[in-house]
Amino acid sequence: MRVTILGAGAIANAHAEAIAGFAGRDDVPEARVTHVIDIDAGRAEAFAEKHGIPHHGTSFEAVLEAGEVDAVHICTPPAFHAPAAQAALRAGVHVVVEKPAVLSLAEVDAIGAAEAEAPGGARFTQIVQHRFGHGAQLLRRLLDSGELGKAYVATCDTLWFRGPGYFEVPWRGRWDTEGGGPTMGHGIHQFDLLLAILGRWSEVTALAGRLARHVDTEDVSMALVRFDDGAMASVTNSLLSPRETSDLRFDTEAGTVEVSHLYGYTDDDWTFTPAPGREDAAALWGPDPSAPPSGHLAQLLPTYRAFAAGEAPPVTLADVRGTIELAAAIYKSAFTGAVVRSGEIGPGDPFYTTMRGTGPAWAPVKDTIAPVEEATR
Ligand SMILES: NC(=O)c1ccc[n+]([C@@H]2O[C@H](COP(=O)([O-])OP(=O)(O)OC[C@H]3O[C@@H](n4cnc5c(N)ncnc54)[C@H](O)[C@@H]3O)[C@@H](O)[C@H]2O)c1
Repeated sequence: MRVTILGAGAIANAHAEAIAGFAGRDDVPEARVTHVIDIDAGRAEAFAEKHGIPHHGTSFEAVLEAGEVDAVHICTPPAFHAPAAQAALRAGVHVVVEKPAVLSLAEVDAIGAAEAEAPGGARFTQIVQHRFGHGAQLLRRLLDSGELGKAYVATCDTLWFRGPGYFEVPWRGRWDTEGGGPTMGHGIHQFDLLLAILGRWSEVTALAGRLARHVDTEDVSMALVRFDDGAMASVTNSLLSPRETSDLRFDTEAGTVEVSHLYGYTDDDWTFTPAPGREDAAALWGPDPSAPPSGHLAQLLPTYRAFAAGEAPPVTLADVRGTIELAAAIYKSAFTGAVVRSGEIGPGDPFYTTMRGTGPAWAPVKDTIAPVEEATR
C-alpha cells in the first residue's frame, strides 16, 4: 500500500517508524511511505530525507489527483484533520488521523457521510494507540468473558505538565485550532481507553478551569461519568501537574486492575489485586512477552490488515464519535452547570459544532487572534 504522511511535525515520526516496522513481517500487507506533504516545504524535505521517503511536497490535492496514494496519515494540527479526511475519502483513500480526529461532533458526522459514500470502501480511523497494548486488550477480554465479573468503579487521570513555553506554538491553547485544552488534546488518550474498556456512557457532570496558563481553553477539567451498565468513573485532565502520570484503575467484582504510565505502557506497568475471597482471580492476569507495547505500530498492524481485507478497522468512526461526544459533554456540563446525557448534543446544540459551545466564563472570544492558517504554521 502506498502511504502519504500529511504534516511532517513531531508525531509524524511515529507514523513513519511504524510503517517501516511492517518490513519483513508476513502478517501485514506490504506498505511503504511514498510521499510526505507539509505546508512548510523545508520540513517536508527534511522529513523525507530523514525517513528515506522518495517524494515530498506541499500539495496533498496534487497527490490525490495523481492517484498516487492508498492511505493517508493525517498528522497536521487538528483544524486540518476533517477537511483532509473528507477529501481523501472522496478520492477512495483510507484515512488514519491523529487524535483528536476532529474539532466537533458536526465534523465527525460530516466524515461519516463521506466514509459512507467513499469509492472502493475507503475507511476512516483515528490513532488511539493505548487501546492496543496487551494489558488493555486482556482487560477487555476478561470483562467480555465475565471472568472479572462486573466493573463498578474506575478512575482515569491524565496528570501532565505543560509549561508556558509549550503554548508558544500558535495552534495550541485555542478552540479554533486545537479544539480544546487537555480534555481534547491530552486526556482524550486516557478516557478513550476508559470507554474502550467500560463501553457506553450515559451521563456526565464536569468542571473546567483556566487556572494558570495564558490560553483560551481550559488547562484542567474534571468529570464524573456514569456508564450504561451502572459503573461510575472520575476523569481528570490536567496540564498543571508537576509529577506526571497517566493512570487508570478499574475495580471489578474479581479484583482491581491498574495501569500507571506516561506516554505508553508495557505489561510491567499493569498490576492486578484480587478481591478478598477471589484470590483465584490472580491467575487470570499475566504478561505476554510476544505482544508489542502500546504504540502506533500495535494499532497500525491490525488497522492495515483490516484495510487490506476490506473490513472495518479496529477503531471505527463510531468509536471516535463516542469519545468526541464525551469530550463535548464534559465541556457542556462544565460551561452550563448541567448534567449532560448521552445523545443530547445534536444539530442545533451550541456544543455540536464547537467544543467551546456557549463558552467558558473566563474566555470571551479574543478579537485579536490570528487567522487559523497563520496560527497553524
Ligand atoms: N498520538 C499521540 O500520542 C500524539 C502525540 C503528539 C501529537 N499528536 C497529535 O498529532 C497532531 C500533530 O501534532 P504534532 O505535535 O506533530 O504537531 P507539529 O506542530 O509538530 O506538526 C504539525 C505539522 O503539520 C504541518 N501543517 C500545518 N498545517 C498543515 C496543512 N494544512 N497541510 C499540511 N501540513 C500542515 C506543520 O507545518 C507541521 O510540520 C495533533 O493532532 C496532535 O494532537 C498525537
